[in-house]
Amino acid sequence: MTQRRPLMAANWKMNKTHREAVAFAEALDDALDEKQLPGATGPDIVLFAPFTALPATSEHRLNCSSAWHLGAQTMDFHDSGAYTGEISGDMLQALGITSVLVGHSERRQYYNETDETCNKKLHAAFKHNLIPILCVGETLEEREAGQTDVVVMRQMRMALDGVTTQQREQLVIAYEPIWAIGTGKVCDAAEANRTIAVIRREIGLAHTRILYGGSMKPDNVAELMKQPDIDGGLVGGASLDVDSFMQLVAAAVPVTA
Ligand code: PGA
Repeated sequence: MTQRRPLMAANWKMNKTHREAVAFAEALDDALDEKQLPGATGPDIVLFAPFTALPATSEHRLNCSSAWHLGAQTMDFHDSGAYTGEISGDMLQALGITSVLVGHSERRQYYNETDETCNKKLHAAFKHNLIPILCVGETLEEREAGQTDVVVMRQMRMALDGVTTQQREQLVIAYEPIWAIGTGKVCDAAEANRTIAVIRREIGLAHTRILYGGSMKPDNVAELMKQPDIDGGLVGGASLDVDSFMQLVAAAVPVTA
């Protein structure tokens, strides 16, 4: 019997100045205290803030012993050097960042992130003690053509090339059907669970946490979290407001497999 601690992750994308991020952090601390969350059985919580908000939010977190962690939305796979505009794993680690998103569909679509660069970023993340959340998912055309499992398996296999069993246990995966991201069209919970079970079989480890992402909201989170293979969420729109994010946190209960 395997207990996987649930994980609720906020992906703020290109939203919130550093001041707004700290105000959110303060309000989240108060709301968590009031509800006595996460407590012993509540979820891990990670806020994926924009780069400019990371220093101030990290300082707040340390000063207030906040019950959540901070993540970056992407990173470069080089250690250092002439890569104008990029941020390295070392820089993130020095700020107390513990997690990083790899291969979000918006990075793949707009910034040319490929399965090969995802693989390099995964290796770089582990090298710098950052827990990567690898994002995978199909387009609407691929789903309608019955290609969902093939696409997701290709993304997984290429990104995980050379990643050890020990690293796979720490890795988090987010299944995010692209057609469900930011559209208000959530994937049917049973179907999301089916795809996530396919991903779990491919990874071959019962402990690896796999999240669902794509229009997760207070009114659909319970149905999603009831599914045995869904360990939490990677949440965009509904994570920008403390009240709605808190409802998602409160709904993320442990799953037994
Ligand atoms: P959404 O975004 O919750 O706004 O659909 C999810 C994501 O992009 O991670």
